[in-house]
Amino acid sequence: MLAGKHDITRHKPKKLPVKQMKHCCVAFKPDGKRVFVHGGATILEAAGQAGIILNTVCGRRGICKKCTVELEPDRRKVLACQYKIESDIVVIIPQTSRFLGQQILEHGTRRQIKIRQAVCKKFIKNIPKDVKTLQAALHNNTSAKDCELTPVAAKQFEQLSTASQAVGLTAVYRRKDASDGCIIIALEQGDTTGKLYGLAIDIGTTTVVNKLIDLTNGEQKATTSAFNSQSIHGDDVVSRIAYANTKQNLAELHNLIIDCINKLTAQICSEAGIQPQDIYEAVVVANTTMNHILLRFPIKQLGMAPYKAYSVDAQDRPAGEMALVINPVANVHTVENISGFVGSDTTAVALAVGMTTAEKISLAVDIGTNGELVLGTAKRLYATSCAAGPALEGARIAQGSRAVDGAIQRLFVNGNDIDLDVIGAGPARTICGSGLIDTVAELLNLGIIDATGRFVPASRLEGKLPPAILARMIRDKTGPAFCLAWNRKNGGQTVILTQGDIREVQLAKGAIRAGIIILLRKMGIDESQIEQVFLAGAFGNYIRPESAVRLGLLPQIPLERIHFVGNAAASGAEMVLLDSDYRVLARDLARKIEYVEIAHEPNFQTIFADSMGF
Ligand code: FES
Repeated sequence: MLAGKHDITRHKPKKLPVKQMKHCCVAFKPDGKRVFVHGGATILEAAGQAGIILNTVCGRRGICKKCTVELEPDRRKVLACQYKIESDIVVIIPQTSRFLGQQILEHGTRRQIKIRQAVCKKFIKNIPKDVKTLQAALHNNTSAKDCELTPVAAKQFEQLSTASQAVGLTAVYRRKDASDGCIIIALEQGDTTGKLYGLAIDIGTTTVVNKLIDLTNGEQKATTSAFNSQSIHGDDVVSRIAYANTKQNLAELHNLIIDCINKLTAQICSEAGIQPQDIYEAVVVANTTMNHILLRFPIKQLGMAPYKAYSVDAQDRPAGEMALVINPVANVHTVENISGFVGSDTTAVALAVGMTTAEKISLAVDIGTNGELVLGTAKRLYATSCAAGPALEGARIAQGSRAVDGAIQRLFVNGNDIDLDVIGAGPARTICGSGLIDTVAELLNLGIIDATGRFVPASRLEGKLPPAILARMIRDKTGPAFCLAWNRKNGGQTVILTQGDIREVQLAKGAIRAGIIILLRKMGIDESQIEQVFLAGAFGNYIRPESAVRLGLLPQIPLERIHFVGNAAASGAEMVLLDSDYRVLARDLARKIEYVEIAHEPNFQTIFADSMGF
């Protein structure tokens, strides 16, 4: 739904003051990203808004120094969590300060983990005269042994062996599991070793994220996202399963997701100036339903008790067979799922936040259309999935959107009125998930909505709230609403939050909160014993932990225990893409996590109903 649905012209505030809060431009290197933030925001918050997630080991207390960044021009070192921005600045972010920075590393550096991608390239200066010489040349130049050629590579060799000796050739080869054996999957003329890319894809019910990674050095070349085009057949997994009740419909859903990935891939390739042919590996994480639709597995049984997956196992498929428009001999690896309801996206989140080795009691919350939760330590882990709905990803909200230009991502109460952070610093047009959480939390703080989620009549707040804020309490066709932006100039749009929007937030929050309570009971602990919370999701770039706690979305624990980790599912996919050893770790982790079906737990309905209040 768009603004047109809301006839607020009869009720619009007579005059909303123009806000003059200072905004500063923050440029990040080497990422090449720029964001506009309020004066007084921290570098950590600005980085989050730019989609750059920093380490916050001590929970932003200024103790651990893991968030250290440098300021241009004198490369002064400051703590991102403590430094308040008061003017335009340029910030350099070292690899060691990035979340996952220690995990995703370059070749040859003496850090925790090396890049050990599943597919490699080697340039051979003189074109070998026959296959045996080619195999020997590869063996002599790498650790790869017993290199077999696929039929495609054998044909390419035939063609290339007649080419000019001077240009040489590049062998593209895949390692065989747990051995030095390899398979040559392609041969390219000349030295193309610098052109080797991979995709880390996160397929959510509502949103699809695609990251383009340079496999030679781990550098992220570009990221893009879009709404999952299957949404025309329902916005949750239950509707998709119901729709896929015939082979034809299942094929249609499959084709929709393939088209969606292909469009995103074409977009990032053009943005990064690379050819899709140079992409030789893709790693996909998804919830189990999306995973099954992608692989064309039957999904009917996912919709009925006991909600069994056709297969939870990791799979490997040639891209050509899946009609993905990258190199047809590229391998597409889907990560292991946990259960019929908890997919490989949760495996990836748990991997990315370090649950394979966690000694502290940790809670990972991945907010998507289904909220996935993992609780425990490396010794014992429980997971569940709750039907949060797509509200926090911007869908089902009157003027909701993904975190795109023009989306409100934060709201400030500024003395006499509110002020907004809008992605791209232009006029507001929509509101994304992080803006939604912030706004509802502030409306609660101001007393504009009560603990049941209802708008309080404006008349009751007269004299208690500044006139400018009171003027934002309006009515539209659907009832009471709050006007965030009244701006049709310069491409802006009126943005209001309705009672229906708040109900959607309550449903999402209630489902996630109920899931947390049930997992805590399984572990036999109370929420104060949770030592670290990792908040992940593709709902926006940065959520203020205090807003998530105010809403009751997260447990009432000290804020320093809460770490915002961005789209950790995509980060986990990236780890699996860059280091093939993570495939085994991901499999073992998925098998270790115990799935809890919350709807079958005693008192679930009561817990859910109680969890909807603020
Ligand atoms: S010092 Fe900034 S998060 Fe620890």
